[in-house]
Amino acid sequence: MEQKPKITVVGSINMDLVTITSQVPKVGETLFGEHFILNPGGKGANQAVAAVRLGANVQLIGCVGQDTFGTDILAHLQKEGVDVTNVEPVTDVTGTATIIVANGDNSIIVVPGANNYVTAEFVESKRDVIAESNLLIVQLETPLEGVIKAVEIAKENGVTVILNPAPIQELPSELLRNIDYVTPNEHEEQLLRQNRDEEELNGKLVVTKGSEGVSFSEDGKQSNIPAYKIDVVDTTGAGDSFNGGLAIGLIKGLSLREACKYGNAVAALSTTKLGAQTGMPTAQEVDIFIKSMK
Ligand code: RIB
Repeated sequence: MEQKPKITVVGSINMDLVTITSQVPKVGETLFGEHFILNPGGKGANQAVAAVRLGANVQLIGCVGQDTFGTDILAHLQKEGVDVTNVEPVTDVTGTATIIVANGDNSIIVVPGANNYVTAEFVESKRDVIAESNLLIVQLETPLEGVIKAVEIAKENGVTVILNPAPIQELPSELLRNIDYVTPNEHEEQLLRQNRDEEELNGKLVVTKGSEGVSFSEDGKQSNIPAYKIDVVDTTGAGDSFNGGLAIGLIKGLSLREACKYGNAVAALSTTKLGAQTGMPTAQEVDIFIKSMK
């Protein structure tokens, strides 16, 4: 039997508190919204679910609180098939993201809570899990020291690393040196480039541009793949879906161009349903979609 590729995600786990409205309130204003839903989210958990639905063996390393959100999220991730042996309960609240979805776009406020416990020491205690992976995905919703440690362990063990630099913050050069692919959106790309030597990002940048598609480096030049034209319901988690798809493409040995195309299709399908993880497709759904778009 073919061995499933092993992906480890070190990252955040949130409960998303989603309000759907046609209008975003101004300061001091109260408006009626249309719906409210609770959805499991967090960039780490989202990327783990994206990759597991596409057929990988996925380990998630992170923390949740000892509260109902934490219990519900763990049960949900287990049902999805994500290995949560290395998600630990801590004495804090589970991370939350308050999300306003208005006309297909979203704005998000994250309160990290338990995610703050994903420290360098915590990650070091999970060294073997990272070392035995084919690929590591990290983002920036957990402490930077833990991200640096995870990447260091991956590098020591020849594990491919994708950094999704969201939410963006200043990053040390030694972290970027150890990373194979950095996947900002356009806004994050601008901030990432500030006060930085061009060379540090050479060949590593894969920029997600929403309706403009994805740009990446090919033969020393930036190339672009257009986005699929699709009816968008909610873009929350589209970037996470892209990262999951890119990871699968890369460990299956696709070229960067083909892996980006695959991630692009995964991201497009994810936007057709409300919620970060709800629309994330299976590998079979992606194949059918790609064929139907030819
Ligand atoms: O990328 C989308 C995610 O960002 C949401 O699920 C929310 O939890 C925030 O972390």
